[in-house]
Amino acid sequence: MHALNASVFESPAEANLVDTLQKQAHPVVSLVAENNDTVVGHTMLSPVSLSGHPGLNIMGLAPMAVAPAHQNKVIGSALVRTGLERCKELGYGAVVVLGHPGYYPRFGFFALSTLWYRLRIRRAGRSVHGCRVTTGLSSR
Ligand SMILES: CC(C)(COP(=O)(O)OP(=O)(O)OC[C@H]1O[C@@H](n2cnc3c(N)ncnc32)[C@H](O)[C@@H]1OP(=O)(O)O)[C@@H](O)C(=O)NCCC(=O)NCCS
Repeated sequence: MHALNASVFESPAEANLVDTLQKQAHPVVSLVAENNDTVVGHTMLSPVSLSGHPGLNIMGLAPMAVAPAHQNKVIGSALVRTGLERCKELGYGAVVVLGHPGYYPRFGFFALSTLWYRLRIRRAGRSVHGCRVTTGLSSR
């Protein structure tokens, strides 16, 4: 996982983040895609907090990497969708990601201002049918 993230990103920050989260975050959802016993895709989800709102159960999706030779084969999509399902199973109500605005909406992510609006609705206990409250997007 470290090697993949180190090769995909320009800086070692993401690879180092993986190591830190593995050691310090709980729970951690860490998913890999393998091809011939080689890790070609990886993503990780771990708890994040929203200042002033300690009662919200939110996971952050980061980092996310697919080896260039294996991109555009829906590996990234499978990792994100599986990660969201795992978060639901763990009882987390929302997932935030700092990522490409053109990529994440396909999984149900939406702008942070809208996420906040929906979280407020959820906290008030109202039912919002057909509305995914488990995902959110913060644009770069
Ligand atoms: C972003 C990334 C994880 C996508 O993985 P992937 O396995 O190629 O994604 P999928 O095959 O599931 O999806 C491919 C789609 O994503 C789109 N996509 C890929 N990178 C994108 C980007 N930076 N912005 C917008 N869309 C992007 C492709 O155009 C393609 O669109 P289409 O389905 O309409 O043809 C991969 O490109 C990657 O590792 N990039 C480098 C690291 C990175 O930027 N990580 C994400 C940080 S937020």
